[in-house]
Amino acid sequence: MSLTKYILPMLAATQLAFAAECGDTTVSSQSDADGIATCSKLKGDVTISKSYTGSLSLAGIETITGGLICEGGENVTDITATSLTSIGNAFNLEGLTRLTMLSFAQLNSVGSINWNALPKLQSLNFDAGVTDAGDVSIQNTGLTDLTGISLKTVGQFDIENNRDLKKININNLQNATDLINFAGNYDGLEIELPNLGTGTNMTFRNISSISVPSLEKLTGQLGFWGTDFQTFSAPNLTSTGDLVFNDNSQLSNISMPALTKVDGGFTIARNDKLRTIDLPKLKTVSGAIDFSGMFNTVDLADLEDVEGGFNLQSTDGTFNCTHFQSIRQTVIKGTFKCAAKTSDPTTSNGKSGTTSSTTSTSSSSTSSGAAIANGASMAVGGVAALFYALAQLV
Ligand SMILES: *[C@@H]1O[C@H](CO)[C@@H](O)[C@H](O)[C@H]1NC(C)=O
Ligand SMILES: *[C@@H]1O[C@H](CO)[C@@H](O)[C@H](O)[C@H]1NC(C)=O
Ligand SMILES: *[C@@H]1O[C@H](CO)[C@@H](O)[C@H](O)[C@H]1NC(C)=O
Ligand SMILES: *[C@@H]1O[C@H](CO)[C@@H](O)[C@H](O)[C@H]1NC(C)=O
Ligand SMILES: *[C@@H]1O[C@H](CO)[C@@H](O)[C@H](O)[C@H]1NC(C)=O
Ligand SMILES: *[C@@H]1O[C@H](CO)[C@@H](O)[C@H](O)[C@H]1NC(C)=O
Ligand SMILES: *[C@@H]1O[C@H](CO)[C@@H](O)[C@H](O)[C@H]1NC(C)=O
Repeated sequence: MSLTKYILPMLAATQLAFAAECGDTTVSSQSDADGIATCSKLKGDVTISKSYTGSLSLAGIETITGGLICEGGENVTDITATSLTSIGNAFNLEGLTRLTMLSFAQLNSVGSINWNALPKLQSLNFDAGVTDAGDVSIQNTGLTDLTGISLKTVGQFDIENNRDLKKININNLQNATDLINFAGNYDGLEIELPNLGTGTNMTFRNISSISVPSLEKLTGQLGFWGTDFQTFSAPNLTSTGDLVFNDNSQLSNISMPALTKVDGGFTIARNDKLRTIDLPKLKTVSGAIDFSGMFNTVDLADLEDVEGGFNLQSTDGTFNCTHFQSIRQTVIKGTFKCAAKTSDPTTSNGKSGTTSSTTSTSSSSTSSGAAIANGASMAVGGVAALFYALAQLV
Protein backbone atom coordinates (compact mmCIF):
# COMPACT_ATOMS: atom_id res chain seq x y z
CA MET A 1 0.00 0.00 0.00
CA SER A 2 1.23 3.41 -0.80
CA LEU A 3 1.36 6.16 1.75
CA THR A 4 -0.02 8.64 -0.72
CA LYS A 5 -3.36 7.04 -0.25
CA TYR A 6 -3.37 8.59 3.21
CA ILE A 7 -1.28 11.66 2.69
CA LEU A 8 -3.17 13.07 -0.24
CA PRO A 9 -6.53 13.20 1.47
CA MET A 10 -4.88 14.67 4.57
CA LEU A 11 -3.27 17.37 2.51
CA ALA A 12 -6.50 18.07 0.76
CA ALA A 13 -8.34 18.30 4.04
CA THR A 14 -5.74 20.69 5.46
CA GLN A 15 -5.98 22.95 2.45
CA LEU A 16 -9.74 22.92 2.61
CA ALA A 17 -9.69 23.74 6.28
CA PHE A 18 -7.81 26.90 5.38
CA ALA A 19 -10.03 27.59 2.43
CA ALA A 20 -13.27 27.50 4.37
CA GLU A 21 -13.88 28.58 7.93
CA CYS A 22 -17.09 26.63 8.22
CA GLY A 23 -18.48 29.16 10.69
CA ASP A 24 -20.86 32.13 10.32
CA THR A 25 -20.94 33.00 6.64
CA THR A 26 -22.55 35.73 4.61
CA VAL A 27 -23.30 34.73 1.05
CA SER A 28 -23.37 37.60 -1.43
CA SER A 29 -22.52 35.63 -4.55
CA GLN A 30 -22.42 32.07 -5.83
CA SER A 31 -18.66 32.01 -5.33
CA ASP A 32 -19.18 32.73 -1.61
CA ALA A 33 -21.45 29.69 -1.54
CA ASP A 34 -18.91 27.61 -3.45
CA GLY A 35 -16.35 28.59 -0.83
CA ILE A 36 -18.27 26.74 1.88
CA ALA A 37 -19.19 23.73 -0.24
CA THR A 38 -16.59 21.65 1.57
CA CYS A 39 -18.20 22.33 4.94
CA SER A 40 -20.29 19.27 5.42
CA LYS A 41 -21.00 20.65 8.87
CA LEU A 42 -21.23 24.40 9.07
CA LYS A 43 -21.05 25.62 12.65
CA GLY A 44 -22.89 28.89 12.60
CA ASP A 45 -25.35 30.87 10.52
CA VAL A 46 -25.56 31.15 6.77
CA THR A 47 -26.91 34.59 5.94
CA ILE A 48 -27.85 35.32 2.37
CA SER A 49 -27.13 38.95 1.62
CA LYS A 50 -30.14 40.96 0.59
CA SER A 51 -28.32 42.07 -2.53
CA TYR A 52 -27.92 38.47 -3.71
CA THR A 53 -29.22 38.17 -7.26
CA GLY A 54 -30.44 35.11 -9.13
CA SER A 55 -30.06 31.42 -8.33
CA LEU A 56 -28.21 30.18 -5.29
CA SER A 57 -26.84 26.69 -4.83
CA LEU A 58 -25.63 25.65 -1.40
CA ALA A 59 -23.97 22.42 -2.47
CA GLY A 60 -21.97 20.15 -0.19
CA ILE A 61 -23.33 21.33 3.16
CA GLU A 62 -25.10 18.64 5.14
CA THR A 63 -25.70 20.39 8.44
CA ILE A 64 -26.01 24.02 9.41
CA THR A 65 -25.90 24.24 13.19
CA GLY A 66 -27.17 27.82 13.19
CA GLY A 67 -29.76 29.42 10.96
CA LEU A 68 -30.30 29.89 7.25
CA ILE A 69 -31.48 33.43 6.85
CA CYS A 70 -32.38 35.89 4.14
CA GLU A 71 -34.23 39.09 4.83
CA GLY A 72 -35.18 41.45 2.03
CA GLY A 73 -33.44 39.48 -0.74
CA GLU A 74 -35.85 40.65 -3.39
CA ASN A 75 -33.64 39.48 -6.28
CA VAL A 76 -33.08 35.91 -5.08
CA THR A 77 -34.93 33.69 -7.57
CA ASP A 78 -34.30 30.20 -6.21
CA ILE A 79 -32.34 28.36 -3.55
CA THR A 80 -31.11 24.80 -3.89
CA ALA A 81 -29.34 22.78 -1.20
CA THR A 82 -29.02 19.23 -2.44
CA SER A 83 -27.36 17.61 0.56
CA LEU A 84 -28.59 19.71 3.47
CA THR A 85 -30.41 17.54 6.00
CA SER A 86 -30.67 19.81 9.00
CA ILE A 87 -30.81 23.46 10.02
CA GLY A 88 -30.25 23.81 13.76
CA ASN A 89 -31.87 27.18 14.31
CA ALA A 90 -34.12 29.41 12.28
CA PHE A 91 -34.88 28.98 8.61
CA ASN A 92 -36.01 32.56 8.03
CA LEU A 93 -36.96 33.96 4.65
CA GLU A 94 -38.65 37.31 4.47
CA GLY A 95 -39.46 39.57 1.53
CA LEU A 96 -37.94 37.35 -1.17
CA THR A 97 -40.51 38.65 -3.58
CA ARG A 98 -39.06 36.98 -6.69
CA LEU A 99 -38.34 33.61 -5.12
CA THR A 100 -40.00 30.84 -7.13
CA MET A 101 -38.25 27.71 -5.91
CA LEU A 102 -36.89 26.18 -2.73
CA SER A 103 -35.23 22.87 -3.48
CA PHE A 104 -34.05 21.05 -0.36
CA ALA A 105 -34.21 17.40 -1.32
CA GLN A 106 -32.83 15.98 1.93
CA LEU A 107 -33.98 18.47 4.51
CA ASN A 108 -35.79 16.81 7.38
CA SER A 109 -35.10 18.81 10.52
CA VAL A 110 -35.32 22.53 11.18
CA GLY A 111 -35.06 24.54 14.40
CA SER A 112 -37.90 26.77 13.28
CA ILE A 113 -39.44 28.04 10.06
CA ASN A 114 -40.41 31.64 9.62
CA TRP A 115 -41.36 32.56 6.08
CA ASN A 116 -43.12 35.75 5.20
CA ALA A 117 -43.80 37.65 1.97
CA LEU A 118 -42.73 35.06 -0.59
CA PRO A 119 -45.57 35.70 -3.05
CA LYS A 120 -44.07 33.83 -6.01
CA LEU A 121 -43.26 30.66 -4.09
CA GLN A 122 -45.95 28.18 -5.11
CA SER A 123 -44.59 24.83 -4.02
CA LEU A 124 -41.73 23.26 -2.11
CA ASN A 125 -39.23 20.76 -3.48
CA PHE A 126 -38.63 19.08 -0.15
CA ASP A 127 -38.42 15.48 -1.31
CA ALA A 128 -37.49 13.95 2.04
CA GLY A 129 -39.95 16.16 3.88
CA VAL A 130 -39.40 18.19 7.02
CA THR A 131 -40.56 15.97 9.86
CA ASP A 132 -39.19 17.83 12.86
CA ALA A 133 -39.52 21.51 13.50
CA GLY A 134 -39.96 23.88 16.38
CA ASP A 135 -42.28 26.80 15.67
CA VAL A 136 -43.48 27.07 12.08
CA SER A 137 -44.91 30.31 10.73
CA ILE A 138 -45.77 30.60 7.03
CA GLN A 139 -47.42 33.84 5.96
CA ASN A 140 -48.06 35.72 2.74
CA THR A 141 -46.61 33.11 0.42
CA GLY A 142 -47.94 31.85 -2.91
CA LEU A 143 -47.89 28.25 -1.70
CA THR A 144 -50.82 26.15 -2.95
CA ASP A 145 -50.15 23.27 -0.57
CA LEU A 146 -47.65 22.35 2.12
CA THR A 147 -46.32 19.17 0.55
CA GLY A 148 -42.85 18.72 2.01
CA ILE A 149 -43.88 19.91 5.45
CA SER A 150 -44.50 16.44 6.89
CA LEU A 151 -44.28 17.28 10.54
CA LYS A 152 -44.20 14.63 13.21
CA THR A 153 -43.52 17.24 15.83
CA VAL A 154 -44.08 20.97 15.76
CA GLY A 155 -44.19 23.81 18.26
CA GLN A 156 -46.44 26.67 17.28
CA PHE A 157 -47.90 26.17 13.79
CA ASP A 158 -49.19 29.39 12.32
CA ILE A 159 -50.41 29.51 8.72
CA GLU A 160 -51.87 32.87 7.73
CA ASN A 161 -52.68 34.94 4.66
CA ASN A 162 -51.46 32.48 2.06
CA ARG A 163 -54.15 33.37 -0.45
CA ASP A 164 -53.58 30.41 -2.76
CA LEU A 165 -53.27 27.72 -0.12
CA LYS A 166 -55.96 25.22 -1.04
CA LYS A 167 -55.13 22.09 0.86
CA ILE A 168 -53.13 21.01 3.89
CA ASN A 169 -52.66 17.45 5.03
CA ILE A 170 -50.27 16.91 7.92
CA ASN A 171 -50.49 13.16 8.01
CA ASN A 172 -47.64 12.55 10.44
CA LEU A 173 -48.71 14.91 13.17
CA GLN A 174 -49.92 13.07 16.27
CA ASN A 175 -49.44 15.39 19.21
CA ALA A 176 -49.39 19.14 18.88
CA THR A 177 -47.72 20.87 21.77
CA ASP A 178 -48.49 24.49 20.98
CA LEU A 179 -50.99 26.70 19.16
CA ILE A 180 -52.14 25.58 15.72
CA ASN A 181 -53.64 28.53 13.88
CA PHE A 182 -55.00 28.96 10.36
CA ALA A 183 -56.39 32.32 9.27
CA GLY A 184 -56.97 34.36 6.14
CA ASN A 185 -55.71 31.77 3.66
CA TYR A 186 -57.62 30.78 0.52
CA ASP A 187 -61.32 30.73 1.46
CA GLY A 188 -61.73 27.17 0.24
CA LEU A 189 -58.83 25.83 2.30
CA GLU A 190 -59.26 22.17 3.25
CA ILE A 191 -57.36 20.92 6.27
CA GLU A 192 -56.75 17.31 7.13
CA LEU A 193 -55.06 16.29 10.35
CA PRO A 194 -55.86 12.58 10.13
CA ASN A 195 -53.69 11.34 12.97
CA LEU A 196 -53.71 14.26 15.37
CA GLY A 197 -54.68 12.84 18.76
CA THR A 198 -53.83 15.55 21.24
CA GLY A 199 -53.29 19.26 21.04
CA THR A 200 -53.30 22.46 23.00
CA ASN A 201 -55.01 25.36 21.19
CA MET A 202 -56.41 25.10 17.69
CA THR A 203 -57.98 28.09 15.97
CA PHE A 204 -59.43 28.12 12.46
CA ARG A 205 -60.62 31.06 10.41
CA ASN A 206 -61.80 31.20 6.81
CA ILE A 207 -61.48 27.51 5.98
CA SER A 208 -63.90 25.30 4.06
CA SER A 209 -63.25 21.90 5.59
CA ILE A 210 -61.54 20.33 8.54
CA SER A 211 -60.97 16.68 9.31
CA VAL A 212 -59.80 15.58 12.76
CA PRO A 213 -61.01 11.99 13.03
CA SER A 214 -58.48 10.98 15.69
CA LEU A 215 -58.62 14.04 17.90
CA GLU A 216 -59.20 13.04 21.52
CA LYS A 217 -58.15 15.83 23.78
CA LEU A 218 -57.26 19.49 23.65
CA THR A 219 -55.96 21.29 26.71
CA GLY A 220 -56.59 24.74 25.24
CA GLN A 221 -59.06 26.48 23.00
CA LEU A 222 -60.80 25.01 19.98
CA GLY A 223 -62.33 27.75 17.87
CA PHE A 224 -63.91 28.33 14.46
CA TRP A 225 -64.65 31.73 12.94
CA GLY A 226 -65.82 32.63 9.44
CA THR A 227 -65.64 29.12 8.03
CA ASP A 228 -67.96 27.71 5.40
CA PHE A 229 -68.18 24.03 6.17
CA GLN A 230 -71.56 22.47 6.98
CA THR A 231 -70.48 19.82 9.45
CA PHE A 232 -67.89 19.81 12.16
CA SER A 233 -67.24 16.28 13.25
CA ALA A 234 -64.89 15.21 16.03
CA PRO A 235 -66.05 11.68 16.79
CA ASN A 236 -63.38 10.93 19.40
CA LEU A 237 -63.00 14.29 21.10
CA THR A 238 -63.72 14.02 24.82
CA SER A 239 -62.45 17.32 26.21
CA THR A 240 -61.31 20.79 25.22
CA GLY A 241 -60.58 24.17 26.76
CA ASP A 242 -62.73 27.07 25.52
CA LEU A 243 -64.92 26.03 22.62
CA VAL A 244 -66.09 28.60 20.06
CA PHE A 245 -68.22 28.47 16.92
CA ASN A 246 -68.79 32.03 15.68
CA ASP A 247 -69.84 33.38 12.28
CA ASN A 248 -69.81 30.09 10.43
CA SER A 249 -72.35 30.80 7.72
CA GLN A 250 -72.96 27.24 6.50
CA LEU A 251 -72.62 25.31 9.74
CA SER A 252 -75.63 23.08 10.34
CA ASN A 253 -74.20 20.12 12.21
CA ILE A 254 -71.85 20.09 15.19
CA SER A 255 -71.10 16.44 15.84
CA MET A 256 -69.10 15.77 19.00
CA PRO A 257 -70.79 12.67 20.36
CA ALA A 258 -68.03 11.88 22.87
CA LEU A 259 -67.49 15.37 24.25
CA THR A 260 -67.84 15.27 28.05
CA LYS A 261 -65.92 18.30 29.22
CA VAL A 262 -65.35 21.88 28.15
CA ASP A 263 -62.70 23.25 30.44
CA GLY A 264 -63.56 26.87 29.78
CA GLY A 265 -66.41 28.74 28.14
CA PHE A 266 -68.55 27.41 25.32
CA THR A 267 -69.85 29.92 22.76
CA ILE A 268 -72.05 29.39 19.74
CA ALA A 269 -73.13 32.57 17.91
CA ARG A 270 -74.08 33.80 14.46
CA ASN A 271 -74.22 30.40 12.77
CA ASP A 272 -77.52 31.09 11.01
CA LYS A 273 -78.01 27.61 9.56
CA LEU A 274 -77.56 25.76 12.83
CA ARG A 275 -80.93 24.37 13.96
CA THR A 276 -79.88 21.58 16.31
CA ILE A 277 -77.31 21.58 19.08
CA ASP A 278 -76.99 18.02 20.32
CA LEU A 279 -74.15 17.19 22.70
CA PRO A 280 -75.41 14.04 24.33
CA LYS A 281 -72.42 13.37 26.60
CA LEU A 282 -71.52 16.88 27.70
CA LYS A 283 -71.37 16.87 31.51
CA THR A 284 -69.14 19.71 32.61
CA VAL A 285 -68.51 23.25 31.43
CA SER A 286 -66.07 25.03 33.71
CA GLY A 287 -66.88 28.46 32.22
CA ALA A 288 -70.11 29.80 30.78
CA ILE A 289 -72.47 28.43 28.16
CA ASP A 290 -73.39 31.16 25.69
CA PHE A 291 -75.51 29.99 22.76
CA SER A 292 -77.40 32.40 20.54
CA GLY A 293 -78.85 31.95 17.10
CA MET A 294 -81.71 30.40 15.20
CA PHE A 295 -81.74 26.87 16.59
CA ASN A 296 -84.85 24.95 17.56
CA THR A 297 -83.33 22.10 19.56
CA VAL A 298 -80.70 22.14 22.29
CA ASP A 299 -80.09 18.73 23.71
CA LEU A 300 -77.67 18.67 26.64
CA ALA A 301 -79.20 15.69 28.38
CA ASP A 302 -76.15 14.81 30.48
CA LEU A 303 -75.27 18.31 31.63
CA GLU A 304 -74.33 18.21 35.32
CA ASP A 305 -72.24 21.23 36.02
CA VAL A 306 -71.89 24.69 34.51
CA GLU A 307 -69.53 26.76 36.65
CA GLY A 308 -70.25 30.01 34.83
CA GLY A 309 -73.42 31.56 33.50
CA PHE A 310 -75.94 30.21 31.06
CA ASN A 311 -77.26 32.28 28.17
CA LEU A 312 -79.46 30.62 25.61
CA GLN A 313 -81.32 32.76 23.08
CA SER A 314 -82.95 31.80 19.83
CA THR A 315 -85.27 33.28 17.24
CA ASP A 316 -87.01 29.96 16.93
CA GLY A 317 -90.51 29.59 18.30
CA THR A 318 -90.46 25.85 18.75
CA PHE A 319 -87.50 26.15 21.07
CA ASN A 320 -88.45 25.71 24.68
CA CYS A 321 -86.69 26.59 27.93
CA THR A 322 -88.60 24.31 30.29
CA HIS A 323 -85.83 21.76 30.68
CA PHE A 324 -83.16 24.33 31.43
CA GLN A 325 -85.38 26.15 33.91
CA SER A 326 -85.80 22.86 35.71
CA ILE A 327 -82.06 22.18 36.00
CA ARG A 328 -81.15 25.79 36.68
CA GLN A 329 -80.83 25.43 40.46
CA THR A 330 -78.77 22.29 40.50
CA VAL A 331 -76.56 22.62 37.44
CA ILE A 332 -75.89 26.27 36.66
CA LYS A 333 -73.73 28.23 39.08
CA GLY A 334 -73.76 31.58 37.31
CA THR A 335 -76.50 33.82 35.97
CA PHE A 336 -79.26 32.26 33.92
CA LYS A 337 -81.03 33.53 30.87
CA CYS A 338 -83.06 31.50 28.44
CA ALA A 339 -85.20 33.04 25.74
CA ALA A 340 -87.04 31.37 22.90
CA LYS A 341 -88.72 33.18 20.01
CA THR A 342 -86.78 36.33 20.65
CA SER A 343 -86.44 38.46 17.54
CA ASP A 344 -83.02 39.66 18.54
CA PRO A 345 -81.05 36.92 20.26
CA THR A 346 -77.83 38.17 21.81
CA THR A 347 -74.68 36.72 23.24
CA SER A 348 -74.01 37.24 26.92
CA ASN A 349 -72.00 40.36 26.15
CA GLY A 350 -74.82 41.86 24.10
CA LYS A 351 -73.67 41.16 20.57
CA SER A 352 -76.15 39.93 18.01
CA GLY A 353 -76.47 36.17 17.94
CA THR A 354 -77.47 36.02 14.29
CA THR A 355 -76.21 37.75 11.18
CA SER A 356 -79.72 38.43 9.92
CA SER A 357 -81.28 40.12 12.93
CA THR A 358 -80.82 43.82 13.44
CA THR A 359 -77.67 44.49 15.40
CA SER A 360 -78.40 44.75 19.04
CA THR A 361 -76.90 47.43 21.14
CA SER A 362 -78.84 46.58 24.25
CA SER A 363 -76.71 45.44 27.10
CA SER A 364 -77.51 42.12 28.59
CA SER A 365 -78.34 41.46 32.18
CA THR A 366 -76.15 38.38 32.23
CA SER A 367 -72.53 38.99 32.86
CA SER A 368 -71.04 36.35 35.07
CA GLY A 369 -69.04 33.41 33.92
CA ALA A 370 -65.92 33.22 31.88
CA ALA A 371 -65.58 35.58 29.02
CA ILE A 372 -64.46 33.87 25.89
CA ALA A 373 -60.96 34.54 24.76
CA ASN A 374 -60.73 35.73 21.23
CA GLY A 375 -58.33 33.06 20.10
CA ALA A 376 -55.00 33.68 18.52
CA SER A 377 -54.27 37.22 17.64
CA MET A 378 -55.09 38.49 14.20
CA ALA A 379 -52.57 41.25 14.64
CA VAL A 380 -50.48 40.14 11.73
CA GLY A 381 -53.27 40.93 9.25
CA GLY A 382 -52.74 44.57 8.39
CA VAL A 383 -49.06 45.00 7.77
CA ALA A 384 -48.47 41.57 6.32
CA ALA A 385 -51.45 41.87 4.00
CA LEU A 386 -50.14 45.19 2.76
CA PHE A 387 -46.71 43.72 2.23
CA TYR A 388 -48.32 40.89 0.31
CA ALA A 389 -50.32 43.27 -1.85
CA LEU A 390 -47.18 45.28 -2.64
CA ALA A 391 -45.26 42.11 -3.38
CA GLN A 392 -47.89 41.13 -5.94
CA LEU A 393 -47.04 44.25 -7.91
CA VAL A 394 -43.43 43.19 -8.44
C1 LIG B 1 -32.55 44.18 -7.01
O1 LIG B 1 -32.22 44.46 -8.34
C2 LIG B 1 -32.55 45.78 -8.77
C3 LIG B 1 -32.26 45.88 -10.24
O2 LIG B 1 -30.96 45.51 -10.52
C4 LIG B 1 -31.79 46.78 -7.92
O3 LIG B 1 -32.15 48.10 -8.29
C5 LIG B 1 -32.14 46.56 -6.45
O4 LIG B 1 -31.38 47.43 -5.64
C6 LIG B 1 -31.84 45.12 -6.06
N1 LIG B 1 -32.29 44.92 -4.68
C7 LIG B 1 -31.48 44.70 -3.64
C8 LIG B 1 -32.11 44.51 -2.31
O5 LIG B 1 -30.28 44.64 -3.77
C1 LIG C 1 -48.65 11.19 21.38
O1 LIG C 1 -49.29 11.11 22.64
C2 LIG C 1 -49.73 9.79 22.98
C3 LIG C 1 -50.53 9.85 24.26
O2 LIG C 1 -50.38 11.05 24.93
C4 LIG C 1 -48.51 8.89 23.09
O3 LIG C 1 -48.91 7.58 23.39
C5 LIG C 1 -47.77 8.90 21.76
O4 LIG C 1 -46.58 8.15 21.85
C6 LIG C 1 -47.41 10.32 21.35
N1 LIG C 1 -46.86 10.29 20.00
C7 LIG C 1 -45.80 11.03 19.63
C8 LIG C 1 -45.34 10.87 18.21
O5 LIG C 1 -45.23 11.80 20.39
C1 LIG D 1 -61.54 6.57 18.14
O1 LIG D 1 -61.52 5.96 19.44
C2 LIG D 1 -61.74 4.56 19.41
C3 LIG D 1 -61.88 4.08 20.84
O2 LIG D 1 -60.85 4.59 21.64
C4 LIG D 1 -60.58 3.91 18.66
O3 LIG D 1 -60.77 2.50 18.61
C5 LIG D 1 -60.53 4.47 17.25
O4 LIG D 1 -59.41 3.94 16.58
C6 LIG D 1 -60.44 5.98 17.28
N1 LIG D 1 -60.55 6.49 15.93
C7 LIG D 1 -59.60 7.17 15.35
C8 LIG D 1 -59.85 7.57 13.93
O5 LIG D 1 -58.58 7.49 15.92
C1 LIG E 1 -55.23 28.80 24.54
O1 LIG E 1 -56.49 28.45 25.12
C2 LIG E 1 -56.67 29.00 26.42
C3 LIG E 1 -58.00 28.53 27.01
O2 LIG E 1 -58.62 27.51 26.39
C4 LIG E 1 -56.65 30.51 26.35
O3 LIG E 1 -56.80 31.04 27.66
C5 LIG E 1 -55.34 30.97 25.74
O4 LIG E 1 -55.39 32.36 25.57
C6 LIG E 1 -55.12 30.32 24.40
N1 LIG E 1 -53.81 30.68 23.90
C7 LIG E 1 -53.61 31.11 22.65
C8 LIG E 1 -52.21 31.41 22.27
O5 LIG E 1 -54.53 31.24 21.85
C1 LIG F 1 -62.13 35.55 7.92
O1 LIG F 1 -62.99 35.33 9.01
C2 LIG F 1 -63.08 36.47 9.86
C3 LIG F 1 -63.85 36.07 11.08
O2 LIG F 1 -65.12 35.66 10.80
C4 LIG F 1 -63.75 37.58 9.06
O3 LIG F 1 -63.89 38.72 9.88
C5 LIG F 1 -62.89 37.90 7.87
O4 LIG F 1 -63.54 38.84 7.06
C6 LIG F 1 -62.62 36.67 7.04
N1 LIG F 1 -61.58 36.99 6.08
C7 LIG F 1 -61.67 36.62 4.81
C8 LIG F 1 -60.50 36.97 3.96
O5 LIG F 1 -62.63 36.01 4.38
C1 LIG G 1 -73.95 15.24 11.54
O1 LIG G 1 -72.66 14.77 11.16
C2 LIG G 1 -72.37 13.47 11.65
C3 LIG G 1 -70.92 13.16 11.32
O2 LIG G 1 -70.64 13.39 9.97
C4 LIG G 1 -73.33 12.46 11.04
O3 LIG G 1 -73.08 11.17 11.53
C5 LIG G 1 -74.75 12.87 11.40
O4 LIG G 1 -75.68 12.01 10.77
C6 LIG G 1 -75.04 14.31 10.98
N1 LIG G 1 -76.31 14.72 11.52
C7 LIG G 1 -77.24 15.28 10.77
C8 LIG G 1 -78.49 15.67 11.46
O5 LIG G 1 -77.08 15.48 9.58
C1 LIG H 1 -91.73 22.45 26.45
O1 LIG H 1 -91.30 21.14 26.13
C2 LIG H 1 -91.81 20.18 27.03
C3 LIG H 1 -91.25 18.83 26.62
O2 LIG H 1 -89.87 18.90 26.58
C4 LIG H 1 -93.31 20.19 27.03
O3 LIG H 1 -93.79 19.28 28.00
C5 LIG H 1 -93.83 21.57 27.37
O4 LIG H 1 -95.24 21.62 27.22
C6 LIG H 1 -93.22 22.59 26.45
N1 LIG H 1 -93.60 23.92 26.90
C7 LIG H 1 -94.07 24.85 26.09
C8 LIG H 1 -94.40 26.18 26.73
O5 LIG H 1 -94.20 24.68 24.89
